[in-house]
Amino acid sequence: IPVEAFELVVFGATGDLAHRKILPGLFRRFLAGQIPPEARIIGAARADLTDQAFRDSIAEAIAEYVPAKLRDPAVVADFLKHLEYIPIDAKGEGGWATLKEKLRPGLVHAFYFSVAPALFGDLAERLKLHGIAGPESRIVVEKPFGRDLATAKALNATLACHFEEGQIYRIDHYLGKETVQNLMAVRFANILFEPLWKAEYVDHVQITVAETVGVEGRGAYYDTSGAMRDMVQNHMMQLLCLIAMEPPYHFDPDAVRDEKLKVIRALDPVRPEDIVRGQYLPGLGEGGYREHAENPESKTESYIALRVHISNWRWKGTPFYLRTGKRLRARASEIAITFKEPPHSIFDDHSGWRENVLVIRLQPDEGMNLMVMIKEPGPGGMRLMQVPLDMSFADALGAELADAPDAYERLIMDVIRGNQTLFMRGDEVEAAWAWTDPIIQGWEARGDAPQAYDPGSSGPEDALMLMHRDGRRWREIR
Ligand code: BG6
Repeated sequence: IPVEAFELVVFGATGDLAHRKILPGLFRRFLAGQIPPEARIIGAARADLTDQAFRDSIAEAIAEYVPAKLRDPAVVADFLKHLEYIPIDAKGEGGWATLKEKLRPGLVHAFYFSVAPALFGDLAERLKLHGIAGPESRIVVEKPFGRDLATAKALNATLACHFEEGQIYRIDHYLGKETVQNLMAVRFANILFEPLWKAEYVDHVQITVAETVGVEGRGAYYDTSGAMRDMVQNHMMQLLCLIAMEPPYHFDPDAVRDEKLKVIRALDPVRPEDIVRGQYLPGLGEGGYREHAENPESKTESYIALRVHISNWRWKGTPFYLRTGKRLRARASEIAITFKEPPHSIFDDHSGWRENVLVIRLQPDEGMNLMVMIKEPGPGGMRLMQVPLDMSFADALGAELADAPDAYERLIMDVIRGNQTLFMRGDEVEAAWAWTDPIIQGWEARGDAPQAYDPGSSGPEDALMLMHRDGRRWREIR
């Protein structure tokens, strides 16, 4: 899809996200021919850099984060010509006049706030004050979007003083993942699944985001957050919404976001006995959570499992089990929908029967797996067995998949195109916090401590019980 000429200003251009994701991502879009000749990417930060020094630092970032086979030096040099730099102090007045002079009228203007949320207000205000951002400009903000309902509301209110909702792009990078968007295609482009996609036929849903990494290097931030704020309130909530929402009337930003919002609002409060929190111990040659967080008393969870209910017509009675954690056995994110037993068995020997399960693997090894029942081959009479209908995206799509943009690339280009479908709306974020807050307040008030678990395991023992007591089992993390 062609992209209009644009000027993208990246505040926080010397920071980690800009170097790791934003600029290398833009370079890959350049390779894909999506950075028009007139486009400019203007880095802005407090450091007093020249254009050349900034380009050199981005050349290094590209060398580190883009595979060698994609880095033809002549092409990198062409890309770097699109980059400029202006020293700007978010809280001061220096640099803003230069920025205003630099920007050319008639192009798409986007301002990426890759800075601490405490600076969002200052940036928004100065962009308006100096007449840099107009009614067509877009701003992009990163998570964490608040740490509870009150702070999220305050952030929304601050941004709303200067920008319309239609100009604000709140990033949840999970929505930029190819496989996450695929959830909508699977549900709404097939007649096969949707008729069964309801409490009447679905026994339960498991959503797993397992990571092998710990919090080393970012322990100070993480210890003030924990898995509930860091993963559940945003990424897992988005997955839950895409799985549970009603079909939007159109694949259109507000139609999709209206449906997601309804799911969040229909979430029941979570009972204390439906929450299991964990914290990883030292092991496998690494320190434990408390060492990584440099807080020997920490009660922050690096793992959480929850049983969640959605009180609406479609899902009443079907539990959604969510779990996410660090330092687990494998990096594996998936959604598994387990269907109910057929109403009546016509076979005398039902012993081989197992539930139909649709597994959507989000990462790695993206793909889909549908467990179906067939007759066990051979002469032994009618005996049942379960077999997988397995599809891996890598096999099915090969090179096409390898060329697909990563989450950040896609989302940045959506900003330029002015498509908000894959961004969170303000009311959505607030509703997610409204559900999250009492859960966190509950365990804080009770003084609950997380249960220890071994690194390389599948999480704390109690998480198994969360399922066992319902006569169900987590899928193995592999
Ligand atoms: C981030 C969290 O938003 O998402 C991290 O802050 C987490 O703690 C990361 O590791 C996971 O993202 P991905 O794309 O690696 O699954």
